[in-house]
Amino acid sequence: MTAMLALELRGLCKSFGGLQVTNEVHLGLGAGARHALIGPNGAGKSTLVGLVSGAIEPDSGQVLSFGRDLTRTSLQSRVKMGLVRSFQITSLFPKLSVLENVQLAVNENTGVADRLWQSMHSLREQRDRCLEILAELQIQAQADLPVENLSYGKQRLVEIAIVLALKPRVLLLDEPAAGIPSTETDLLLSALHKLPAEMAILMIEHDMKLVRDFCADVTVLVSGKVLASGKAQEVMNSASVRNAYLGRSGHDRFTGVKDHA
Ligand SMILES: Nc1ncnc2c1ncn2[C@@H]1O[C@H](COP(=O)(O)OP(=O)(O)O)[C@@H](O)[C@H]1O
Ligand SMILES: [Mg+2]
Repeated sequence: MTAMLALELRGLCKSFGGLQVTNEVHLGLGAGARHALIGPNGAGKSTLVGLVSGAIEPDSGQVLSFGRDLTRTSLQSRVKMGLVRSFQITSLFPKLSVLENVQLAVNENTGVADRLWQSMHSLREQRDRCLEILAELQIQAQADLPVENLSYGKQRLVEIAIVLALKPRVLLLDEPAAGIPSTETDLLLSALHKLPAEMAILMIEHDMKLVRDFCADVTVLVSGKVLASGKAQEVMNSASVRNAYLGRSGHDRFTGVKDHA
């Protein structure tokens, strides 16, 4: 028997109106994978993450995690089974404190809020665990501040804190570094490096430095199709991938060098 994949996509397809945005996508991530999903704007990356998280229903194909078919499973149930998409800042409560945001997300997603018999002891334990996570990300000093008072980069770390508190087995990150000033990317990178080794991570990212530093494997999506998939170095050096990027903007995103040809 082959080892069960943490995440397996089989022939996923999705169209919006007449536009096929996801075209027969196959992908496999083992436990502990650090896998980047790259591709030009409009390639269908966010849609793919939506299909995996359960936010979007595919027209055909399957989503499996550790051998379980989750294709028809709700987003909420997928979260409970350990398949988690990083929370977007837009889903944080700006007026609530950092700690409250993390606790709220955990309560909502583990069903703890429903359990009226929840003892004070376990509530305190949960609070301590959330504070530990904030400490790991070096935002414990801001625990009691409203989220809206934090810099954009730090707000994104709150998202990561929520992810850590939910302890996923498979994590989906859609452009974690987007909008973060370069001075704060290092904070994010060190937070990502602290994620548990066995967690499988699929990360959409435009920042090639982050991809290089963090991801062992890369899949390139163009017009909803997998153009290339494999070890990061090989994929990034492949002629077809370089052409796909150079052809569009005349700018080599992998080296940051402008193509003057
Ligand atoms: N809900 C939707 N309805 C219609 N078209 C959509 C929807 N979501 C995405 N699209 C279209 O699908 C294509 C891929 O979008 P997206 O997955 O966001 O790409 P990426 O994340 O790679 O930039 C785009 O052409 C986009 O306009
Ligand atoms: Mg996108």
